[in-house]
Amino acid sequence: MLLSAAGVFAALAAGAHAKGPFLQKINDTAHVIGNDLWNVTIGQQYGVKLFYKNQDLVGDAVGHYVSYNGAASDLNWTSASIHHQTKDYLDVKFTANEGDMHWVIFDDLAGAYQYFVNQALPDLGEFRTLWRLDNTSFPNGHTNLKDEPLPPLSEYVVSTKVQDETWERADGSYITKYDWTAWIRDQDYYGVYGDEFGSWYINPGKDYYNGDQLKQELMVHRESATGDAVQLNMIHGTHFMASSTDVFPKEKIWGPWLWYLNDGSKSDAANRARKEFRNWPYKWFENEEYHSRGSVSGRLVMSDGRPAAKASVFLGDNHPNKTTLDMGTLYYYTGETDDQGKFSFKDVRTGDYGLQAWSNGGKLADVSTTFLRNDVTVKNGKQSQLGKLKWAVSPAKKIFQVGDFDRKALGFKYGGAPYEHALVANCPGNLTYTVGKSKTSDWCFGQSAAGTWSIRFLADQKASRSSSVLTVSLAGYSEGTTSEILLNGDQDAPIGNLTTLPNDQSVYRSMTVAGEWRFFQFDIPKGKLRNGWNSIDFHVLKSSAWHGFMWDSIILEQS
Ligand SMILES: *[C@@H]1O[C@H](CO)[C@@H](O)[C@H](O)[C@H]1NC(C)=O
Ligand SMILES: *[C@@H]1O[C@H](CO)[C@@H](O)[C@H](O)[C@H]1NC(C)=O
Ligand SMILES: *[C@@H]1O[C@H](CO)[C@@H](O)[C@H](O)[C@H]1NC(C)=O
Ligand SMILES: *[C@@H]1O[C@H](CO)[C@@H](O)[C@H](O)[C@H]1NC(C)=O
Ligand SMILES: *[C@@H]1O[C@H](CO)[C@@H](O)[C@H](O)[C@H]1NC(C)=O
Ligand SMILES: *[C@@H]1O[C@H](CO)[C@@H](O)[C@H](O)[C@H]1NC(C)=O
Ligand SMILES: *[C@@H]1O[C@H](CO)[C@@H](O)[C@H](O)[C@H]1NC(C)=O
Repeated sequence: MLLSAAGVFAALAAGAHAKGPFLQKINDTAHVIGNDLWNVTIGQQYGVKLFYKNQDLVGDAVGHYVSYNGAASDLNWTSASIHHQTKDYLDVKFTANEGDMHWVIFDDLAGAYQYFVNQALPDLGEFRTLWRLDNTSFPNGHTNLKDEPLPPLSEYVVSTKVQDETWERADGSYITKYDWTAWIRDQDYYGVYGDEFGSWYINPGKDYYNGDQLKQELMVHRESATGDAVQLNMIHGTHFMASSTDVFPKEKIWGPWLWYLNDGSKSDAANRARKEFRNWPYKWFENEEYHSRGSVSGRLVMSDGRPAAKASVFLGDNHPNKTTLDMGTLYYYTGETDDQGKFSFKDVRTGDYGLQAWSNGGKLADVSTTFLRNDVTVKNGKQSQLGKLKWAVSPAKKIFQVGDFDRKALGFKYGGAPYEHALVANCPGNLTYTVGKSKTSDWCFGQSAAGTWSIRFLADQKASRSSSVLTVSLAGYSEGTTSEILLNGDQDAPIGNLTTLPNDQSVYRSMTVAGEWRFFQFDIPKGKLRNGWNSIDFHVLKSSAWHGFMWDSIILEQS
């Protein structure tokens, strides 16, 4: 605001008395970028010496970097240059073989907008940007779900490692970074902070993230090997998913998001986040494809006449061959219908999408079907009005249902508890749920231990003479525990099994609501149900501690 373009970039050459945003070359593999408020020295891989208020906020920590599939693949910058400059900002580009990391530096902003443009990333997996910062300046972590000191390294060294990034304290409680997970699309701002400094990520646009509204990621943590305070930006995260590899088109853009520095004030970060959310998509960002957006609206009605109230709606891959959680090639939009089943998506990048909808509980708690409509075309500046869309529900007569259908373990014991390692160990080996008598909360959110979980229910004569279908919906599953499904204890003829499911890491990594959703249906032949009391048993054949099934809903219907 104060400086003209000429004045600002005069700093480029000399650098001695920087005024406004600048890029200064030290040698072929080291550059300093920043403005009058802050600067960072970016070497071949790492951004170190982050100066703000005359203090180095990286110190002995690793600093800033961009990486995929773990630390073996930290990107190497081959050059740095000014990509674009306007009277308001300088867009500096660090080039790697895989793509370009941009820092957009305004003269009066502590921090920078960042975005990454793909050139040649391999098919991935994990892709992220992050800061590893000085742990004395940044003792605390903050997400929209958790705000606490990061556990100090001194606690790790006196505890026993029991699994990946998880330690058991002498008192039996656990320390694990996975407790710092959150729902990525629910974040307003998150980061690490202390009494004098805060470093935050504010990602108002969420469309470049992989996954759906159930995508959770690790947000911040203490690095257990070094003690660094870590602030993650998991732009293509892989945690808690059965399959996460995607192909990325050239020129896919992640971001821009804002990396924001302040004095540690959460209310200031929250204010800044509100402003960023209002301003997204960013008008200052000069990129034609980024601004080519339209909207989509419609109204979902169930085939039985009910409005599809408060359903989850998702715009993703057209003609999908992946689950909504596993999608991550292009851009994704999430939302919820209103009480009337109406939905609208705004600021959707132009393209062809597949629209999906599923129950998020409430008035649709009995709905096990997923709605899919392909070939939803979004045109620039236009509204695609899809009108009334019919969503088919099962016409079959329900015999029982345990738990709401919402792809979440909510309602069951411990379902929705704060992230905590090993909660599933509190669920019993044997459990009996009696339809009509037991409460949903009598069923536990996860089954891991050896034993049998039984649902006892009454079938009438008509049901006993019909065939039926057992729907088993899992909110997540971690491999190692398997089960067979028995009718009336008949081990000679199981009606099905849950033995060969791909792993997600939800159950053993602190999740209590969801990992990756799975859906199974098992036929029960005519004449197998008794007229009177019956039981469906989930009999664990093989058990592995902290691994197993996270429940969503179990439904038996007469077919
Ligand atoms: C480039 O400068 C950085 C920062 O001063 C220094 O650490 C590095 O050794 C230098 N590299 C070369 C090749 O001179
Ligand atoms: C970076 O900031 C530090 C501390 O304010 C200052 O001493 C240094 O000159 C700055 N570097 C550049 C290149 O402006
Ligand atoms: C970056 O360069 C180092 C060698 O300096 C190498 O070990 C590493 O694999 C490179 N990273 C990538 C992503 O190629
Ligand atoms: C900070 O990191 C240092 C190592 O650089 C470590 O010794 C110290 O315990 C860490 N502090 C905390 C609070 O974890
Ligand atoms: C899945 O769909 C994508 C395009 O949407 C396509 O490129 C890919 O080949 C498909 N994969 C399979 C296994 O069909
Ligand atoms: C579960 O029930 C079986 C059969 O009644 C019994 O053998 C087993 O000890 C029980 N397990 C637990 C953990 O109570
Ligand atoms: C599980 O069921 C499948 C068929 O649905 C069957 O082929 C397989 O043998 C069963 N596995 C076990 C361990 O019972």
